[in-house]
Amino acid sequence: MSTMHAVVTDEDGRLGYTEVSRPEPLANEVLIRVEAAGVNPVDWKTRAGNSPPRRLFAPGQPVILGWDVAGKVEAAGAGVTRFAPGDRVFGMPKFPRPASAYAEYVVAGAREVARVPDGIDIVEAGALPLAGLTAWQALVDTQAVASGDRVLINAASGGVGHLAVQIAKAQGAEVWATASASKHDRLRELGADHLIDHSTERFEDQCSDMDAVLDLYAAHGSPTRAVAVLRAGGSLVTVSPAELPDAATLAAAEVSANWILVEPDYASLEAMAELMTSGALRVVIGAQRPLAQMQELHEIGQGGAPFGKLVATVG
Ligand SMILES: NC(=O)c1ccc[n+]([C@@H]2O[C@H](COP(=O)([O-])OP(=O)(O)OC[C@H]3O[C@@H](n4cnc5c(N)ncnc54)[C@H](OP(=O)(O)O)[C@@H]3O)[C@@H](O)[C@H]2O)c1
Repeated sequence: MSTMHAVVTDEDGRLGYTEVSRPEPLANEVLIRVEAAGVNPVDWKTRAGNSPPRRLFAPGQPVILGWDVAGKVEAAGAGVTRFAPGDRVFGMPKFPRPASAYAEYVVAGAREVARVPDGIDIVEAGALPLAGLTAWQALVDTQAVASGDRVLINAASGGVGHLAVQIAKAQGAEVWATASASKHDRLRELGADHLIDHSTERFEDQCSDMDAVLDLYAAHGSPTRAVAVLRAGGSLVTVSPAELPDAATLAAAEVSANWILVEPDYASLEAMAELMTSGALRVVIGAQRPLAQMQELHEIGQGGAPFGKLVATVG
């Protein structure tokens, strides 16, 4: 049996770096030799026993967290025509089921991953998928943000937010972004047109008549507050079902609201890869550590996010 190193979560939620058996690709799957694995809030929420439920991990098997992955195809299962060994790929396989991406090798459905374009840094590619897909599936797939739209991104300096700002700009929108004041300059560099300091200002006082709001904070009633800044016919997307505004509030304001849960989608990854190649989308790495130091990356994320993404490097 082949083995590999992986970050395994013990029963008390501690992250250890140990040897485990290496997965093998089934038909339609690729085995990826991982070079970078992005780290997201859902990782520590799952580690703490929240969503997605820990029960989705097979009993008796090591709990290996992580969904974001970039690396080289090591082997392709029967029926795979999209990739061959040696191709560089990235993706967020299987979510919300376990993907076990905190490891040296990961298996993914061939249509859950996309090719990393030449010239794109593999670490940036590994940090992109979950956060980028969330932003894309909200702004492009759900809200159809278009040229000239007025868009508010609440919590714009985090992993999802800094990508959402750039995706909204690439769609031609005018972008309002909330973040701590110390992060405003970097958001301006990424294209944000109007900055709001969420610790001293209320976004309701800083923008109005918006076509779309993407609320990534989704706490303390922020999605309900967001209804007030939307024009009639505008749309709200939030990332927590618990915070959706009630039907009467939405009907009175004549706006739509959706909670989304990110899903694997190679076509959206390809669209974002094109934006990366053109220079319209940059992944800012806020903290990077070797895979064996995953515990430290979780502590950095839980302690107040640095600007952009957290990512582990492998090999
Ligand atoms: N439903 C889904 O499919 C889905 C997918 C991805 C993420 N999510 C969720 O979306 C959230 C954001 O994810 P992420 O990866 O971007 O997290 P992150 O990188 O940890 O960023 C969180 C951001 O929240 C901001 N923030 C803190 N207090 C705030 C406030 N009072 N008002 C506005 N913003 C505030 C911080 O900005 P400052 O540091 O500038 O203050 C920080 O940048 C997480 O809860 C995550 O679990 C859900």
